[in-house]
Amino acid sequence: MHRTHTCGELNITSVGLDVTLCGWVQKTRDLGAMTFVDIRDRYGITQLAFDTDDDADLRAQARNLGREFVIKVSGKVIERASKNLKIPTGEIEIKVSRLEVLNTAKLPPFLIEDETDGGDDLRMRYRYLDLRRNPVRNNLVLRHKMAQAVRRYLDEKGFLEVETPVLIKSTPEGARDFVVPSRMNPGEFYALPQSPQTFKQLLMVSGFDRYFQIVKCFRDEDLRADRQPEFTQIDCEMAFVEQEDVLEVFEGLIRYLFKEIKDLDLPSLPRMSYADAMRLYGSDKPDTRFGMSFVELNDLVKGQGFPVFDNAELVIGINAPGCASYTRKQLDALTDFVKRPQIGATGLIYLRYNEDGSLKSSVDKFYGPDQLAAWANAFGAQPGDLILLMAGVEEKVQKQLSELRLEMGNQLGLRDKNKFSALWVVDFPLLEWDEETARYHAMHHPFTSPKPEDIPLLDSKPGKVRANAYDMVINGTEVGGGSIRIFQRELQSLMFKHLGFSEEEAQRQFGFLLDAFTYGAPPHGGLAFGFDRLVSIFAGLDTIRDVIAFPKNNSGRDVMIDSPSKIAQEQLDELQLRLK
Ligand code: AMO
Repeated sequence: MHRTHTCGELNITSVGLDVTLCGWVQKTRDLGAMTFVDIRDRYGITQLAFDTDDDADLRAQARNLGREFVIKVSGKVIERASKNLKIPTGEIEIKVSRLEVLNTAKLPPFLIEDETDGGDDLRMRYRYLDLRRNPVRNNLVLRHKMAQAVRRYLDEKGFLEVETPVLIKSTPEGARDFVVPSRMNPGEFYALPQSPQTFKQLLMVSGFDRYFQIVKCFRDEDLRADRQPEFTQIDCEMAFVEQEDVLEVFEGLIRYLFKEIKDLDLPSLPRMSYADAMRLYGSDKPDTRFGMSFVELNDLVKGQGFPVFDNAELVIGINAPGCASYTRKQLDALTDFVKRPQIGATGLIYLRYNEDGSLKSSVDKFYGPDQLAAWANAFGAQPGDLILLMAGVEEKVQKQLSELRLEMGNQLGLRDKNKFSALWVVDFPLLEWDEETARYHAMHHPFTSPKPEDIPLLDSKPGKVRANAYDMVINGTEVGGGSIRIFQRELQSLMFKHLGFSEEEAQRQFGFLLDAFTYGAPPHGGLAFGFDRLVSIFAGLDTIRDVIAFPKNNSGRDVMIDSPSKIAQEQLDELQLRLK
């Protein structure tokens, strides 16, 4: 055996033990009479001590240890003279009698300590070194714990973990597919799953009743802080259920995770309709850690000769509490913020409700004190508050004000990472109009069931049909989503028709599912959580990269293994592929 203990487990009760430890050299300190070496492994750090009583060779060996050398030491656990009560091993040290260098190491390109001097790129290139650092490793420990807790909960509830294939055929989740050429079938391609959606539905037809899988999914889409080209879902499906049953089981899962992992009692999740989420927060994933919900002012502001408001479809605003003292410069900065191309607003109107009760707006020319007082009243504003208004086309102005609301939340410190606010957003529209292709697309995916009472609207007002679809949102992030599915062949065919598929196309792409529906498909529904997003929220991180062992960068590259990369001509020939 290489070691008797890890570097994190010896303490004052171990004094007198003869031990052998293995690990990496974190640091050496030579104080003349004494030489100290910190040895580190996954479990912690232990101090090794060498003094003048030791033979000269041993001390010389210790002095020559470089950072990150891999060593094995044997010795006796003794009580330290100067204790470090901040770490569990801080009251003891090892008086070393034998030291063996198992491997030397080049000087690492950045400090392998909690606070490192390495930039993002460097740390990604040497990710295996970055993973030696506590904060990075701890994220993966958390991820492991959460995965185990998920399995415990779902197993307890009778869910079976079933693996579905990775080399499949396109699944329409709305992103582009990654494809894999087939050597044995020249000119033909597999697609990597954007999710196991169709397979889990087939498992319901097979009678599995309750399925789950912690599974890799692949989507070729533009990357953001909460998106990776390959990511992990907790994918679930249940038969003989209605929406209420699904919400109950998975609300239970999330509350179980908060309790198990963070010892937090999450209150039961409120429900908000998609329509309300858009009306009150301008977003289908509202951050409900703070209020500042939208107030509509159309009736109060129109017809007073101010063209921006008169010509707008919607005039809405938020009340930023305590911000009346914002300076001109701060207000200009907010205006610049909403005018950035990513947000694209034309401007921002403000109303200061000063501490002395006076009202001052940027449109005083058009509105008198009584009118401004009515605005303040509509917001329930208090002296000291600042009202920010935006106007424009409904959908756009809602999105723009939503960005401003989040920015104000940041500025006012209302988006505390240690606070958790979860909710369900329900009653999503079934279809959304896509300007580019000039046709309707499934908002969730084409297998989502319309609300039965809205089916008659499919022909007349497709945009008004609501779906039996739901998302779970925590702190403004969509952590999961799902729906009750269509399980009748005729309705599924009708749905494909509305999505612009010809009968042949639908049969070619999804014939297997349509056929399966004719062999006794039970009613079913489910959802999938974005596991990386869930872990990053639990860890209080801004990006899911930090909870993935080997993530891709923002251009979808793995800079450590340098992928994607070119392949050899022979490989291309074998696959009968020709590059343009
Ligand atoms: P959806 O497309 O909403 O639903 O995906 C489910 C959840 O997966 C997470 N997610 C991502 N996480 C990281 N990187 C990405 N690129 C990424 N894309 C999505 C989100 C999202 O809520 N088959 C359906 C589920 C169902 O209907 O049961 C599906 O995949 O947290």
